[in-house]
Amino acid sequence: MAPAQSPQAATLEKLVSLCKRRGFAFPAADIYGGLNGVYDMGPLGTLLKENIRQAWNLSLRRLDHTIFYIDGSLLGPESMWKASGHVDSFHDPLVECKECQGRFRADDVNLEKACPRCGNQSWGDIREFHMMFKTNLGASVEQSTPAYLRPETAQTIFVNFKNVLTSSRAKIPFGIAQTGKAFRNEITPKQFLFRMREFEQMEIEWFCHCTDTNTYFSFWQEERYNFYKAIGITMDNIRLRTHEANELAHYSTKTSDIEYKFPFGWKELEGVAYRGNYDLSQHIKHSGKDLSVFDENTKESFVPHVIESSVGTDRLFLTALFDAYTQEETPEGPRTVLKFHPCLAPVKVAFLPLSKKLAEPTEKIYKKFKTQGLSVQFDVTGSIGKRYRRQDEIGTPYCITYDFDSVEDNKVTLRHRDSMKQERIDINQIDTYLQHLTPDFQDQ
Ligand code: GAP
Repeated sequence: MAPAQSPQAATLEKLVSLCKRRGFAFPAADIYGGLNGVYDMGPLGTLLKENIRQAWNLSLRRLDHTIFYIDGSLLGPESMWKASGHVDSFHDPLVECKECQGRFRADDVNLEKACPRCGNQSWGDIREFHMMFKTNLGASVEQSTPAYLRPETAQTIFVNFKNVLTSSRAKIPFGIAQTGKAFRNEITPKQFLFRMREFEQMEIEWFCHCTDTNTYFSFWQEERYNFYKAIGITMDNIRLRTHEANELAHYSTKTSDIEYKFPFGWKELEGVAYRGNYDLSQHIKHSGKDLSVFDENTKESFVPHVIESSVGTDRLFLTALFDAYTQEETPEGPRTVLKFHPCLAPVKVAFLPLSKKLAEPTEKIYKKFKTQGLSVQFDVTGSIGKRYRRQDEIGTPYCITYDFDSVEDNKVTLRHRDSMKQERIDINQIDTYLQHLTPDFQDQ
């Protein structure tokens, strides 16, 4: 039955609460009071995050382009981070309130106004705050080696460029992709998973000749924009924004952000950046290694240029939740529903016996799908209405109810999450309803 009233959107508070209650994300070390800007993923969050990675991987693998994957280390030597410019330039502007000693990102507060924490207007000077986490490797201070946790996954791609090139016998153009953790000592981690201190990135570095950079910049911008369509994000909430010159990172000469309209405003979801050959050139200079390539056709040796696409897995996780979250009135009362694209839904199908007496045959069907590797649930407790609501709240696209007639006619009731429409189908037909669990990529 169709919803009777227009739906209500999510607030950050509602999402945080749902995430904790239903096992999407918890504050890190929750029982010790949490750790600011750090979160643990719960059982459903782990599934959602895995689905996000899978959709991202598929968006690359389906292309007629050569892309290699690596899994780089989290720790890197100081020399590498000096070369990349991060040791000297990876700063955020910090301002301190002289009254309450509160520390803020200078671009997050209005210095013409009072401190949002204590209400006084007594700001100190703006200082540069270094955002990398430094540590020392080794047992004794004298023999220890300084190292840094990576603030972006990209550099482990650049320093492995030659290894990938030679071990794979690759030819330019090609890409190297990676998903993995990054760490930043953010001055003010905030908005839940939006700005964290430990987070995951999904990055592609596309290596090409400098004459092809405009073509590939447009290509990647379009590909990445279309990715959000394919995973069901509301495209009215997505826009492309080109960076002004004063916003560009130290390595970039051209960047477009793909932004999402969060309840707290339009914010960056992903960056597509032209990094020139800045990174490879810096690593050539600092390591003394030759990272150029030789083109057999033109007999030319050159340092490839790079187009980068970079999105935070956790930020996309938050985006998917905001986009899917709906509260609506139905003839049976209010419901909260996560209208995820089925490819993102942590649980794809729930199997619900109408009565406890029917648990055994229902469980048999459930196990058939479970052992095929599909993410499914079996739920026998509570009224059927309550069980539907539980599945709506975690975004399960299909519920299958086994009733007393099923024993006779070998049919079950399939309920669609968004429309709440129910249809009677043959048990053998269930498979055919599960064809829409992958992203809707449009073939160009
Ligand atoms: N390699 C380029 C790079 O790291 P970035 O704009 O600093 O560029 C890329 O980060 C993406 O990583 C952002 O668009 C965002 O999705 C995600 N991201 C960055 N900082 C983050 C943070 N503190 N918490 C969560 N996600 C973050």
